[in-house]
Amino acid sequence: MDRLAILTGAGVSAESGLGTFRDNDGLWDNYDPMEVASIDGWYRNRKKVLDFYNIRRKQLENAAPNEAHKLIASLEKRFKVDVITQNVDNLHERAGSTNVLHLHGELCKVRPENTFCEVDGFSEKEVYDVGYGEVHLGDKAPNGVQLRPHIVFFGEAVPNMTKAVEIVSKADMVLIVGTSLSVYPAASLYHYAPDSAPVYLIDPKAPGIADARIRHIKMVATDGMREFVKMI
Ligand code: OAD
Repeated sequence: MDRLAILTGAGVSAESGLGTFRDNDGLWDNYDPMEVASIDGWYRNRKKVLDFYNIRRKQLENAAPNEAHKLIASLEKRFKVDVITQNVDNLHERAGSTNVLHLHGELCKVRPENTFCEVDGFSEKEVYDVGYGEVHLGDKAPNGVQLRPHIVFFGEAVPNMTKAVEIVSKADMVLIVGTSLSVYPAASLYHYAPDSAPVYLIDPKAPGIADARIRHIKMVATDGMREFVKMI
């Protein structure tokens, strides 16, 4: 079975009603990422950061996977699929994808604030599932330490990058869906694909990276995924 590596970004969840970051009226128009999504922001004002992710968890509870998530999951019948997502939502899993690697963390998980990234990922025993519930100042892990979102903040390393590079470097085909390719190191992942592997991008906007290697399907995720499934 051919190996298909799929890199997704906020655009794949846009049709589920979750806002992207850098489109007009996107999340970063309304919040300063350095205040709510950076490691310095966390230590400056933990409450502000916790509140931001509490709101996002609530939005996720009310969102459902769209047809693009479902078509991505259905590709497992034809390919050995690895989904590598920059998204912190769980819509790929809820649509049925069984192999999902989260590069930027997971909204429904928390961990003590004194745990840090290791090269090969977080120690799973220090990560707790909070579902769609709220987390507040004073909420502590069993070791007595304040809980923080299990999110890769700006200014922190991306622990799952090593695994992601390994996956992409063995791929027969790469599909990128709904990302501005403006945040590194995730944006550089497709460069690790073998020269023989075609690289497709589904996004209504031109990619931030001008690269002749990228075959651009200029559509929203649901239409683009229908097109991609027909094409392959
Ligand atoms: P961006 O907001 O930077 O880019 C979203 C992309 O989705 C854009 O290229 C849009 O054109 C596209 N898009 C919008 N609607 C779409 C639709 N219906 N179908 C398909 N594509 C659509 O989001 P990301 O590239 O995911 O990190 O951002 C990367 C990282 O930056 C995020 O993981 C987050 C953010 O800061 C952290 O918070 C650590």
